[in-house]
Amino acid sequence: MIGGPGVGKGTQCANLVRDFGFVHLSAGDLLRAEQERPGSQYGDLIRSYIKEGKIVPMEVTIALLENAMLASGQTRFLIDGFPRKMDQALKFEESVVPSKFTLYFECPEEVMLQRLIKRGETSGRDDDNIESIKKRFKTFTETSYPVVEYYSKKGKVHTVSCVEAPDVVYGKVKVIFDKLFSENN
Ligand code: C5P
Ligand code: MG
Repeated sequence: MIGGPGVGKGTQCANLVRDFGFVHLSAGDLLRAEQERPGSQYGDLIRSYIKEGKIVPMEVTIALLENAMLASGQTRFLIDGFPRKMDQALKFEESVVPSKFTLYFECPEEVMLQRLIKRGETSGRDDDNIESIKKRFKTFTETSYPVVEYYSKKGKVHTVSCVEAPDVVYGKVKVIFDKLFSENN
């Protein structure tokens, strides 16, 4: 699941987990947990990348995801906010598992900006401030969007506009998932 910051990925993932029983793994949440883990050798590195809105070196994120996947003991994963850079996409598919498809959440920056500013009032996140938000937008356009284009060329992308209210957006997401994951798919 890919989309700019503040697009509502976490909200939609919660709905999908409820209705389709995936294991939800958020790359950003895993990185924030590792950042806070006492004794982590990556804590400072992760903190500085997140604050700057840059993509953390792929080895760290892929290892966190792979560990969480194995620990779950499950086989169907909804991976939120990943891959955000071409090297992550290629390495993950080569060393962990190929993805079935990509859900791309499309949203104008002005709408994402309003949501992030609102979220920043309560999120406590180091990167929900205007300086970090601008950097995250730039990273998304320059580094993450090429991943969407790459999977589009492979015919693997479903795009959903995220401008409307969360339940309206979810209505559209659910139609796509019902088709893809009906029966025992
Ligand atoms: O997805 P989320 O907004 O929680 O990600 C927060 C930050 O975590 C990103 O701005 C980036 O610094 C880092 N991140 C990353 N690689 C990913 C996902 C998140 O480096 N695949
Ligand atoms: Mg999130």
